[in-house]
This record gives sequence, C-alpha cells and structure tokens, in this order.
Amino acid sequence: MTGPEITREQIDGYAADHTTPETPLLQRVANETRTSMDNAGMMVGPVEGRLLEFLVRLKGARRVLEIGTFTGYSALSMAAALPPDGEIVTCEVDPHTAAMARRHFGASPWRDRIKLRAGPALDTLATLQGPFDFVFIDADKENYRNYYEAALPLLADDGLMAVDNTLWSGRVLDDADDSPATRAMVAFNDFVRDDPRVECVVLTVRDGLTLVRRSTEERAGARPPAEVWASLPIPTDEDPVVRAEEVPVERPTSRH
Ligand SMILES: C[S@@+](CC[C@H](N)C(=O)[O-])C[C@H]1O[C@@H](n2cnc3c(N)ncnc32)[C@H](O)[C@@H]1O
Repeated sequence: MTGPEITREQIDGYAADHTTPETPLLQRVANETRTSMDNAGMMVGPVEGRLLEFLVRLKGARRVLEIGTFTGYSALSMAAALPPDGEIVTCEVDPHTAAMARRHFGASPWRDRIKLRAGPALDTLATLQGPFDFVFIDADKENYRNYYEAALPLLADDGLMAVDNTLWSGRVLDDADDSPATRAMVAFNDFVRDDPRVECVVLTVRDGLTLVRRSTEERAGARPPAEVWASLPIPTDEDPVVRAEEVPVERPTSRH
C-alpha cells in the first residue's frame, strides 16, 4: 500500500476524534490533572477510558477492582458503567493524587459507588474479599506480577482482568533497555501468555491493554491438543457439509 506516512499520534488522534466524547466530568478531571500534574500522561485518556467503560458494561460487572487510581479518570469512566448497586474499589498509594481523586469522586453522580483505599495496593488487596467481575491493573510496573497474583484469586470465575501499559511505549521490544520497569513488563507479558490458568489478548490500544480471563475446561475445548487438529479431515468440494452451505445468490439486475 502506498500513501502518506501516518504517525501513531495521527492515528490515535483520529481514533479519539471518532470515539464518543468524554463527559464534562471527565473533561474537568483531565483538565485539572493536566494543569496541576507533571505526569498527566498517566491518565488512560478518552479512548481507553471509553473502552474500559464498554468492557465493564459488556461484562455486566457489579464489582470492579482498580489498582492505581491517580486522579480518578479511569475509576470514574468505569463507575459510569456500573449498575446503581455496583461498586468500584480503587487503590492509591499517593496521598496527594488520592485527595484529588476523592474530590472528583465526591462531585460525581457515582460518589456512592467508588471506594478509594489509600495505601500500598498489595496491603489493600490482602484485605479484600472477591469476587470482582472486572479488575484493572494500572500502577507501578515492577509490581505487576504481584498485583496479578494477588488479584487473580479475587477475580470471578467468568471475570475479566485488564492490564494497562503492557506495550510500554514499545520498550518491551528493546533488549538493551534494562530499566526495572521495562524488564518487569517483558517478564510479565511472557508469564501471562504462558500461564495455563488464563488466556489473554494484547490490544494495541494506546500503550497496550492486555485482557485476561480464566482458562476453563469449556474454553480449553475450543483449543484442543495438536493431535485432535491433525486428525480432522480436510474438506473437499464433494463434502456434503460444504455443498449444503452453497446457497444460490440472487444477482442484482440493476446498478444503484
Ligand atoms: C498510571 S497511574 C494510574 C492512572 C489511572 N488509572 C488513570 O487512568 O487516571 C498509576 C498510579 O498508581 C499509583 N501507585 C504506584 N504504586 C502504587 C502502590 N504500591 N499502591 C497503590 N498505588 C500505587 C501511583 O501513585 C499512580 O497514581
């Protein structure tokens, strides 16, 4: 394919322009975060925020667990998709960002659904009772494996886990990058892909979002062992199943 060189920023901008816009509440959180914080890029932003909202709603989740609140953008995005009796427990270690998030939660229609738990997330996770229908991991990368191990037992049998920043700005491909966060992310991605307890898919949305769900017997049945695949017949045109699916196509008589 030939054509103009398209940058990642341009295509991300196009996606944002063609996604349902964020609410005034989320705009306010995003604006205040941008003007008062150096690291505003930590917010999931409008496209991933809408994706999280979609996933929580599609899952029909009633209980959500978030690890990494920051100023509250993702928690508010997910809270909007919960039923009135739903709840989101969100963990944050930094008292300054936790205070800002609390203020935004309090000024939102979802104030009764959001419970911010201050302190190191691993300590908080040890006190929680499952099951959670949706878990979102978005805190310090060096602890991702620990968060995963602590959150998996809290995940409902048919629950969904989403893990943010798993492409780590592409640094997961840089073997020379020996920063602890990059090596932790590489090890985490390899571990989850090979973990027989789960199945996963890495979405290339924004900085990478990995979706994880439990591997069940039924799901394993959709991916039988190699010998089952090898024993399947190769269909031919004479195969009655192939022939039965041939439906006569009506040709259009005029062009529109
Ligand atoms: C990437 S930001 C979260 C962004 C947020 N999900 C959003 O979209 O606005 C990561 C957050 O995790 C918090 N964090 C880092 N280490 C933590 C820990 N051990 N326990 C709880 N929170 C932690 C940081 O203070 C930071 O606010």
